[in-house]
Amino acid sequence: MKAAALLLALAASTHATVLTPDNYDDLTQDKSVFIKFFAPWCGHCKKLKPTWDILIDEYKGHKDILVADVDCTAEGKPLCDANGVKGFPTLKYGDPSDLQDYQGGRDEKDLKKFASEKLGPQCGVKNLDLCSDEKKAQIASFQAMGAEKLGEFIGEQEAKIKELNENFSKQVEDLQKLYEGYMKDKEAAEAALKGQGLGLAKAVRKSLEATTDEL
Ligand SMILES: *[C@@H]1O[C@H](CO)[C@@H](O)[C@H](O)[C@H]1NC(C)=O
Repeated sequence: MKAAALLLALAASTHATVLTPDNYDDLTQDKSVFIKFFAPWCGHCKKLKPTWDILIDEYKGHKDILVADVDCTAEGKPLCDANGVKGFPTLKYGDPSDLQDYQGGRDEKDLKKFASEKLGPQCGVKNLDLCSDEKKAQIASFQAMGAEKLGEFIGEQEAKIKELNENFSKQVEDLQKLYEGYMKDKEAAEAALKGQGLGLAKAVRKSLEATTDEL
């Protein structure tokens, strides 16, 4: 029993490149990635797992390509939230800081074909030759700013995103209050209408109809 459990654990560890917010930057740096966002309980995830693990193994140790998992029910959850993952499994690919949705087939042949054709070295600080003129200019201007200024810039951008999210939460809260207000008004108006004898009127109509039917 113990040996079996150990073997299972070993088998799992030969695959698992499981990304979390803590290791994401390190493991994905300068790579073109293919990521499966999953939840362990989901049926489609269990079905895809053997195929996905084949792909993970195939690219294990690859210089430019990383195939990995993110467990949305565990430490990986913030990555799922940040990437707008709504269903499981969700496959995304490309630049680790700008993932794109994968919409293709999910059998082994489709996934392997996609990985071999669409993943690979991408434009980045270390692959300038693969960048558009626009991206090259942007990289050059960031380099010219120097580490300190760049740090300030990043801080400002992140603060803005935080503020956007806070504003949004506030707006949703306001919307909830508005909704509750409308609901209360509606219920009060409805109660007032019913209080004007609606139930009684219906009962009387029914009795009138019954009398008419008898005639
Ligand atoms: C957040 O809301 C405040 C107040 O309405 C507004 O002044 C500010 O520009 C908003 N921030 C962002 C990032 O949109």
